[in-house]
Amino acid sequence: MDFKKASAYIESLYEKRKLTQKQYIETTELKDFGPVIDDDVARMLQVLITLVRPRRILEIGTSVGFSTVSMAKAVKSYGGKITTIEFDAKVAKQAIKNFEREKVAGQIEVRIGDAREIIPILTEEYDLIFQDVGDKNLYAALFDDCVRLLKPAGLLVAEDTLFPVTLFPVFKWVKMREALAEFNKKVADCPLLESTLLPIGDGFTVAVKRE
Ligand SMILES: C[S@@+](CC[C@H](N)C(=O)[O-])C[C@H]1O[C@@H](n2cnc3c(N)ncnc32)[C@H](O)[C@@H]1O
Repeated sequence: MDFKKASAYIESLYEKRKLTQKQYIETTELKDFGPVIDDDVARMLQVLITLVRPRRILEIGTSVGFSTVSMAKAVKSYGGKITTIEFDAKVAKQAIKNFEREKVAGQIEVRIGDAREIIPILTEEYDLIFQDVGDKNLYAALFDDCVRLLKPAGLLVAEDTLFPVTLFPVFKWVKMREALAEFNKKVADCPLLESTLLPIGDGFTVAVKRE
């Protein structure tokens, strides 16, 4: 399949959507922040949320909050809540501003701090966990905790999981490729999860915790 052609066609179908990544970035005052999800991943998150109706969502890696807002718009109708973790206070402050502008601040709790320290001490369970942290070593390092924190039938989703094959195998990307490859193996081999990896965004893993 010609993915470029397919992707252009799919985006043309959805170009009238209200909230696009481009508009979101243009209306964000801060210009230096971690990359946010593509529109196809935003739509996938919204489809999954509409299907599963998760009441409690945990997001690891907020940046300026495009993914958080995309999810919040889908959970708002039934009162779902999102906790999102970001360790860069300046970026988190911009995200909070964006949540107010998009009228979804009531759905979202922002925790400013290091996911490596916050996740292991969490005890509440979640219906959906979205792993999108900038430090890609944390995907594998926090994997067991993510599975522990998921309710039975809960969803673990993760962005950038095709990096092992899409990033050029040059020195500066080697560590990132390896980190994602380790995470992908953990997901695929985990007997507690039913999972797949979709070729949208930079690779999007969808895993359901078996009941
Ligand atoms: C890819 S961006 C998140 C994009 C966001 N999910 C979206 O699509 O709108 C990753 C973010 O993770 C943050 N980050 C990196 N290491 C972190 C850590 N150890 N704990 C918490 N946040 C971290 C970065 O500052 C960055 O803003």
